Amino acid sequence: MIISVIGAGYVGLVTAAGLARNGHSVICIDVDDLKVNAINQGVSPICEAGLDDLLSSLTSRSGRLRASTAYREILDTDLSLICVGTPSNSDGSINLRHIRDAAKRIGQVLGSKKSYHVVATRSTIIPGTTKDVIIPLLAKYSGRKPGKDIGIVYNPEFLQEGKAVQAFFSPDRIIIGELDKRAGNLLAKVYGDIEAPVFRTDITTAEMIKYASNAFLATKISFINEVANICQKLGVDVYDVAKGLSFDYRIGDKFLSAGIGFGGSCLPKDLRALVYASANRFGYPPPLLKAVLDVNKAQALKIIDIAERKLGDLDGKRIAVLGLAFKPNTDDVRDAPAIRIIRVLLEKGALVKAYDPEAMQNARNVLPGGVEYCTSAADAIASSDCILIVTEWAEFRDENLYQSKIVIDGRRALDPRKAKAVCDYQGVCW
Ligand code: UDX
Repeated sequence: MIISVIGAGYVGLVTAAGLARNGHSVICIDVDDLKVNAINQGVSPICEAGLDDLLSSLTSRSGRLRASTAYREILDTDLSLICVGTPSNSDGSINLRHIRDAAKRIGQVLGSKKSYHVVATRSTIIPGTTKDVIIPLLAKYSGRKPGKDIGIVYNPEFLQEGKAVQAFFSPDRIIIGELDKRAGNLLAKVYGDIEAPVFRTDITTAEMIKYASNAFLATKISFINEVANICQKLGVDVYDVAKGLSFDYRIGDKFLSAGIGFGGSCLPKDLRALVYASANRFGYPPPLLKAVLDVNKAQALKIIDIAERKLGDLDGKRIAVLGLAFKPNTDDVRDAPAIRIIRVLLEKGALVKAYDPEAMQNARNVLPGGVEYCTSAADAIASSDCILIVTEWAEFRDENLYQSKIVIDGRRALDPRKAKAVCDYQGVCW
């Protein structure tokens, strides 16, 4: 099949590379010349395990993947996948400007296409967006009939950063929300080489499945963090409690690592957007999901309360922050707990010494001045009054790095028993 992927960001690029690898001819359309050039040279513009190798084999050698800034190239394809970003507005709602722009421009091109074409969206969009925004724009700008001349699908992605390429080829499920059966059949055929349960449903249900998935994962994390805060009062180790829970097959052992809470480009943004839309548009302010966000917000700042208990006033204190990315093995600092923690430390007058193996540049771009960026964990640790472990990179997991120091562990990076033997160790909620 010949497929156009609109938006060569994280989701678009992994999807494009995966589909090309599975034998389809794929063209990525993006407005950014730099990205387009990088892709055409077989270089990934984003940091994602395995993507560079895939791109270089697919662009230069097989020629099955290329990129362009020209929307008109959609004309020669059978299917367009919309993978543009849906950033947050300041009130938490999602911003649909890229979705609107893509739907309008695809519509303009499809106006001159005679044959059937499928438009499927993979971006995360609030339930109702395909029906209320994408379909009307496609109809208006193409003059053709969605559901008949233009097939319409919502096909969410569930990719985890750092494991996205692997997850593309072995997903837990493929969700196809279809307006017309013909479009759903085409999508099912596109993913035909991938072994996974396929669930076909209507479009709004598929949109909701995506939000409900991320809301559930976020709820699991805030749940275990709340349990951890209770356990801490009781002198009980939440990691033992989580292990005890995990034997129940209905609960499982995933997403029960207590700590300073969730960050990243998806869970916080999607949860805020769902809470906003539910309260302001659907007429149901969701108390549980709001509480999940509240617990998460408070959890990151617990690490600072503990530092204050140990050191007193933080003004003038040298605090090492190990880890800036929202999780290990990525350079992504979007909604990273580290960024919030550092901002508060700076407000309190602390002298912050930060280190991350991958995310320093991205952190510099968003943090105010006044942070000292170190060349290694050892450099940040030396001459600091207290060390905060904020991201559990493998290189921070050596207890011997912290001899005689005050260490507050936000991610259970260290074994508490071993750490207590060499330093003044305190877990954030254990
Ligand atoms: C997430 C979803 O997992 C994915 O399905 C969706 O498509 C996009 O959002 P990602 O943002 O890559 O993926 O991160 P994920 O691995 O889910 O971790 C999210 C955050 O939760 C991280 O900050 C992580 O440190 C934190 N986390 C995760 C915990 O605090 N405890 C856990 O047990 C698991």
